[in-house]
Amino acid sequence: MNFSLPILAPSILAADKAQLGVQVQAALDGGAQWIHCDIMDGHFVPNISFGPDVVGAVSRISDEAFMDVHLMIENPDQYIEAFCDAGANLISVHVETCVHLHRTLQLIRSHGALTGVVLNPATTVYQIEPILQEVDLVLLMSVNPGFGGQQFIPSTLSKVQELVELRELNDASFLIQIDGGVNSKNITEIAEAGVDVLVAGNAVFSAEDIAAKVAELQERLDQVQGE
Ligand code: DX5
Ligand code: ZN
Repeated sequence: MNFSLPILAPSILAADKAQLGVQVQAALDGGAQWIHCDIMDGHFVPNISFGPDVVGAVSRISDEAFMDVHLMIENPDQYIEAFCDAGANLISVHVETCVHLHRTLQLIRSHGALTGVVLNPATTVYQIEPILQEVDLVLLMSVNPGFGGQQFIPSTLSKVQELVELRELNDASFLIQIDGGVNSKNITEIAEAGVDVLVAGNAVFSAEDIAAKVAELQERLDQVQGE
């Protein structure tokens, strides 16, 4: 992945689904390179969002958009192929949903997507120590999964620190992603903690001017990169 980091990943969970194409195009016009797709099944999390068809429709808006698919679903193995066929460039699975995580990561890779593993707020980073060489990205949930528009959980920043140290200790090269409660007030602090990819749903899609908001947030991240 050759993106200049840190990078913003707008989450379409917060987009107006009656204008999804228009709003995704606006985010891309504002400079977004990643589109974060929050997939929810109503079992692992108490909400239902959308499936491969929507991921496919969004991926057809632009060949350049990097489709970052976050599976908040039970039995993710059953859906890896469908999301890859729909255009997923990266698939992240929750460690809490994978009995055979190493095999699930191999399955994602076998279908041509990059691999991500997700940790809920109460899951320690040390649980994934054995598979740090198998992942391209580690997503730390900074809210309890299921809904956008929640408050950022501050203790996530100490998990970022632990993960940065683990990555160095293991000579690994995965990206660190944060998802939930990111906004213009905390985005700089989160990026300065060492986060490479920052998901933002409501901060982007509730803005009057989506393109301008994406550009503003990415500019804030570019300033961190330059520090
Ligand atoms: C929770 C979702 C949200 C979403 C971002 O399951 O994963 O974290 O992506 O929501 P905001 O940015 O609106 O908090
Ligand atoms: Zn997400």
